[in-house]
Amino acid sequence: MNYTKRLILRRIKTYINVSTLRYLLRHPRSLKDSFSIISSHTLIVTEAARCFTISPQMIHKFLTELYNSHPNLKEIIGKVSSTEGRLKVIGLEWVYLAVRALKPSIVLETGVSAGCSSAVILLALDRNKNGHLHSIDITDFLSNRKEVGWVIPQNLRVRWSLHIGKSTEVMQTLLPKLGQIDIFFHDSDHSYSNMISEFMMAYPYIRPGGLLLADDINRNRAFSDFCALVGVDRASKNKYFGVLRKPKYERDIYE
Ligand SMILES: C[S@@+](CC[C@H](N)C(=O)[O-])C[C@H]1O[C@@H](n2cnc3c(N)ncnc32)[C@H](O)[C@@H]1O
Repeated sequence: MNYTKRLILRRIKTYINVSTLRYLLRHPRSLKDSFSIISSHTLIVTEAARCFTISPQMIHKFLTELYNSHPNLKEIIGKVSSTEGRLKVIGLEWVYLAVRALKPSIVLETGVSAGCSSAVILLALDRNKNGHLHSIDITDFLSNRKEVGWVIPQNLRVRWSLHIGKSTEVMQTLLPKLGQIDIFFHDSDHSYSNMISEFMMAYPYIRPGGLLLADDINRNRAFSDFCALVGVDRASKNKYFGVLRKPKYERDIYE
């Protein structure tokens, strides 16, 4: 079996579990969406290879790692209930690939919840043997009384700092301290005003060639408006997950 078929099968096994099957039986209309999420595998390989200017073979290698690591993607998301809210499989694959490909020193994310995206980013930093993740969440305890980030394995936490507070308020003091970041990932409050504010605050600190990633970009026009504002085409066609690579030479968006 070739790489692509093997990875599509892994993705099906990761995505489909008992609670997903129950949900799909109750909401048959979501079947179409689920199918497109699973079949978007070939697209992510081409898009990510182009975005990171690395070979499709390298992308396959990174994705295989994610599905075979300890803990692997299925083990991480399998622990988290659907009510806790987590990034979709395609988004988790994108953040893992981004961190493995760019080998960042500093990653900043907003919106932690149980910590699936944080765990995946930390897995990638651990593989890189370099880098630190700063995560922001408005609360330190979730509605099920579990601690924010509870799914993150202890051994990966050496590269992790959690900041509690409203994302834009924490970013105002944290970003000048960090000076420069390689990757910014938004997954907090998906209102237009919060998304556009986070993008506007983070972008000047992203190094040239760095990345701005965002989940749930289908909720409003914030991500597409921001891409138009900075004059950069998005690197992913996925309707939920936005990828923007900051050009090496940029024009001043605040002029
Ligand atoms: C969709 S969940 C994040 C999921 C997480 N990225 C994952 O993949 O597991 C959204 C999180 O954002 C947090 N949040 C909501 N509004 C926020 C804000 N204004 N600032 C910081 N965090 C916020 C919520 O407390 C929640 O934990």
